[in-house]
Amino acid sequence: MPSIFKCIDCRKSYPLGFKTRCECGGLLEVKHEFRERIRREIFDKRADSKNPLIKSGVWRFKELVYPELDNNHIITKPEGNTNLYTSKLISSFVGTSNLYLKHEGENPTGSFKDRGMTVGVSEAKRLGMTIVACASTGNTSSSLSSYAATAGLKCIVFLPEGRITYGKLAQTLAYGATVIQVKGSFDDAMRIVQQVSEELSIYLLNSINPWRIEGQKTIVFELIQQLNWKPPDWIILPAGNLGNTSAFGKALTELEELDLIDEKPRLAAIQAEGADPFYRLWLTGSSLLEPNSEAKTIASAIRIGNPVSWKKALFAIKNTNGVVEHVSDQEIMDSKIVVDRSGIGCEPASAASVAGAKKLLDSGVIDKGEKIVCILTGNILKDPDSTIRYFEGDLPGIKPNFLNSLKIVEPSIIDVRKILEL
Ligand code: F0G
Repeated sequence: MPSIFKCIDCRKSYPLGFKTRCECGGLLEVKHEFRERIRREIFDKRADSKNPLIKSGVWRFKELVYPELDNNHIITKPEGNTNLYTSKLISSFVGTSNLYLKHEGENPTGSFKDRGMTVGVSEAKRLGMTIVACASTGNTSSSLSSYAATAGLKCIVFLPEGRITYGKLAQTLAYGATVIQVKGSFDDAMRIVQQVSEELSIYLLNSINPWRIEGQKTIVFELIQQLNWKPPDWIILPAGNLGNTSAFGKALTELEELDLIDEKPRLAAIQAEGADPFYRLWLTGSSLLEPNSEAKTIASAIRIGNPVSWKKALFAIKNTNGVVEHVSDQEIMDSKIVVDRSGIGCEPASAASVAGAKKLLDSGVIDKGEKIVCILTGNILKDPDSTIRYFEGDLPGIKPNFLNSLKIVEPSIIDVRKILEL
């Protein structure tokens, strides 16, 4: 049987196609039927290939992502094959030596979104779509506009006016997307793009599109492969619209079903304190998500009050015996600066994973002996503004605990010596 869409609420199934939601309004997910036994060795062999399509960190796992897709439809740059780092500095900040950092900011457009977009845009090509759209806090729009340009598709993005970083706005415009700034929040933009794509038959490529989730599963596949198929005890990731948390849960369930791992790592989804509806849902055990009316955090990528994928993400957390935590902007920025100082570097939202690891170790939820992988989701250059403002002490409510002030001198050796105290 070929892969199908299945509604996560009413369980109705559909053949693959344009739909991104069920008639009942529920989210759809892709159900694959894995008939043959899939072995780790095929993925290991491909990792050494010279052919980008075979080596790609997404398409190397094609059997687990989209087995039926004709290779001629695939739009790849290629994605993935991102580094898994260790760092003494970050380890001592977090409080464990058993720490890895997987840097998804090393993808072609600087964020993990490329892994979902290669699959989503390839599907748009297969379906013969000509226009694609998304709402975004900046990384999804950068990724989609790049892949759409590569595929020759028209791209329309809806951004919350004045609330995304210049780096991401510039990237999105430069790749040629039509940029519509919505006078409101990301959640307003998300609502509008769903209406627009439904009414105008435009292909929606936010993470409610089930193919985005299939692509993002490969972050987990690849990191476990990098650890020689010995899963860590914990995978910790920043959580906003909750597509990635959903993807990680699905990836782990499938790896276990296929006997590709012996035990599932626990997931820890980390939100920013001012944008933490999923954390509150988790804490109260409620069955309905209560949105933040106004999401507030320095980490603009995860400034989201009403995440669309919360039901899938809740299943992911429960099914991996996971946890949800939230961290303050101060913790996010301090962690970011430590990641930057280590030479690795990331954008603020990414550092929520490191801040979360520290908090969960401090509170004893994670044991020092357990192996942790933190996901860094975006590149350091995505948001230079908050880095500079941190060092200038210009971020309201945030203390620059790690100093590196700018120095200004007259062009004279005497002045330089004075400043360097040499
Ligand atoms: N980290 C970064 C750098 C992101 O850009 C995002 C989401 C997340 C984490 C959270 O991932 O939404 O799957 O829970 N950015 C989206 C965007 C919303 O439009 O770029 P999530």
